[in-house]
Amino acid sequence: MQRILVVDDAEVNRELLHDMLEDDYIVEMAEDGAEALRRLEQYDGEFAALLLDLQMPGMDGFAVLEVLEMKGWQKHIPVLIISSEQSVEVENRCFRIGVSDFIHKPFVTSIVKNRIKNAVELFSCKNRLEQEVEQQTRTLQKKDQIIQIQEQRLMEVKNFGNLMMQYQCAMMEVETKLKVLNEEFSREYNRNPFEAIKSRLKSPESIYEKLRRKGYPFTVENVEEHLGDVAGLRVICSFPDDIYHLAEVFALQDDIVVLKKKDYIQNPKSNGYRSLHLILNVPIFLSREKKYMKVELQFRTIAMDFWASLEHKLKYKKNVKDTDAIVAQLKTCADSIELLDYRMQEIRNQIDSARE
Ligand code: GTP
Ligand code: MG
Repeated sequence: MQRILVVDDAEVNRELLHDMLEDDYIVEMAEDGAEALRRLEQYDGEFAALLLDLQMPGMDGFAVLEVLEMKGWQKHIPVLIISSEQSVEVENRCFRIGVSDFIHKPFVTSIVKNRIKNAVELFSCKNRLEQEVEQQTRTLQKKDQIIQIQEQRLMEVKNFGNLMMQYQCAMMEVETKLKVLNEEFSREYNRNPFEAIKSRLKSPESIYEKLRRKGYPFTVENVEEHLGDVAGLRVICSFPDDIYHLAEVFALQDDIVVLKKKDYIQNPKSNGYRSLHLILNVPIFLSREKKYMKVELQFRTIAMDFWASLEHKLKYKKNVKDTDAIVAQLKTCADSIELLDYRMQEIRNQIDSARE
């Protein structure tokens, strides 16, 4: 049952209204304005209607209406004035303030009942409609937000796709430069400085994973700023000499910037890993701009590459037994490979000098 508040200083009126309404509502009663407000506070304005007398000692009906207005309760609770006041002016003033109805004392029970019922139904309809509109507005706002997020994601996907295209172009530039050097070497010295070039673009998953590991969110800007190996090329040479010669002439090209050099051939890793790594800034020429892209270039001999592939398998394979023993064997192999690489180079030098 809905709750209704009867405010009247005359006990007889309160009792009359109470008896008339108790079958249909929970009837709360107050004998002056102040008590009425306490009741309203107590139930947080959750009343289906307020039956309000105007003239009361202490806080009168008008003062109650002012507080209702101030608290915004009047929008949700229909107020019906029940008064012996006969002045049209007073009645009009009440309507101007926003009361729903004005019932004159002495009243006819059945009429009062119907007018209360009408006011309650009208307000509950109005309140329900307002809630629905509010709910729909919230839903629309949410949908709008979702659309905005989706648009942003699409834009990010498009930008990420562009970036990958640019890395791909940078790899093509580097590969062409290497092939040009290879052509020149083979004409001039009758041999190829490298056997093969492998290139790879880092997958979106490993880009995401590496950024996460470094503590950066996945954005196009962070990929460009914090990752140097999205575009990667591996040059497989026959001899260590070729690696240094090739790297040197490559780095001397005036459009290439060497950002970082790690020489794991001079300073092998403790596991035996040997390779020469360069992080380069390479210009690509797009229709509207010249843009520098980072490219990782690794140089290895065939033997080093053979070793690194096998060792890489160990790193990414789980549950390998006797890992320590395998690591030790790989280290021994790396040392043998180092000796082998330089011995092969010596033999080549002997052959070359014999030929001259
Ligand atoms: P990453 O985060 O792995 O790129 O390492 P880094 O940024 O410290 O650069 P580093 O030059 O040490 O390694 C770059 C790349 O070289 C790696 O991604 C591997 O491809 C290769 N590499 C480096 N160390 C090893 C190694 O111990 N074993 C093998 N198989 N490859 C290695
Ligand atoms: Mg890497």
